[in-house]
Amino acid sequence: MAELVWISGASGGIGRALVESVPWPSARIIGISRSAAAGSEHLAADLTDPAGWDDVDASFRRELAAYEGDRVVFIHAAGTLEPMGFAGEVDTASYRRNVMLNAAAPQVLGHMFLAAAAHCGGARRHLVILTSGAARSVYPGWSSYGAAKAAVDQWVRNVGAEQELRGGTQVLAVAPGTVDTGMQAQIRATAEDDFPQRQKFLDLHEAGKLTPPAQAAAKTWRLLDAGLPNGSVVDLRDLPA
Ligand SMILES: NC(=O)c1ccc[n+]([C@@H]2O[C@H](COP(=O)([O-])OP(=O)(O)OC[C@H]3O[C@@H](n4cnc5c(N)ncnc54)[C@H](OP(=O)(O)O)[C@@H]3O)[C@@H](O)[C@H]2O)c1
Repeated sequence: MAELVWISGASGGIGRALVESVPWPSARIIGISRSAAAGSEHLAADLTDPAGWDDVDASFRRELAAYEGDRVVFIHAAGTLEPMGFAGEVDTASYRRNVMLNAAAPQVLGHMFLAAAAHCGGARRHLVILTSGAARSVYPGWSSYGAAKAAVDQWVRNVGAEQELRGGTQVLAVAPGTVDTGMQAQIRATAEDDFPQRQKFLDLHEAGKLTPPAQAAAKTWRLLDAGLPNGSVVDLRDLPA
């Protein structure tokens, strides 16, 4: 198989759109999520749980051990806004899961992918992590989400610089804009007391200004061969459609 692609969050939203638009017809696609993902082999994993990370690591190592194809890709799109609400007020177990999935999983899974792919020097290697404008803007109700995305951005800048020194994997963070997925529906369904900026997202939805997932996915795939500096943090809204 020429190309080997892992996509987390493959069962819905942007992850599913990425699965549906992989630009290489011969690619083997492994989708990672808790529920089944159409269009790909399914690796069932709860990425709030380090045991789930180990299952993904086992897949990276197993599939890349003797890999001799052209290109390996891991896109980490899994993420959650739950629980939307203020720190100190939301459920603690849910808050801990948010931190594990949004902040810890990208770094540890990213590290695991780099290690497993390190010997695949004959292949183009790409690690892409979905980030958000919430890494820079303040949104009361999204404390751990915003902090996690800021961590993703800085992790990508550092690791991109490291990989540049090694001639290794291309590492990118991609902020997709405001995309019409289940995550946006969750925002609209949240009480304003828990997420005071909800109206902004209701207005964007009402005005038909949400980006279709397929458009975000197509732009993301184009970035892989765009010659970006390693460690780039890219906002898809800055790119032409
Ligand atoms: N939509 C937007 O406007 C927007 C804006 C900025 C950034 N983003 C980022 O883009 C990425 C994708 O967002 P989206 O809008 O497509 O989200 P979504 O529609 O809510 O889909 C989330 C995906 O993540 C998976 N997931 C959630 N919890 C998981 C867990 N514990 N273990 C494994 N997989 C899990 C879900 O699968 P299962 O439930 O089956 O596990 C699903 O496939 C996220 O990183 C998000 O932060 C989105």
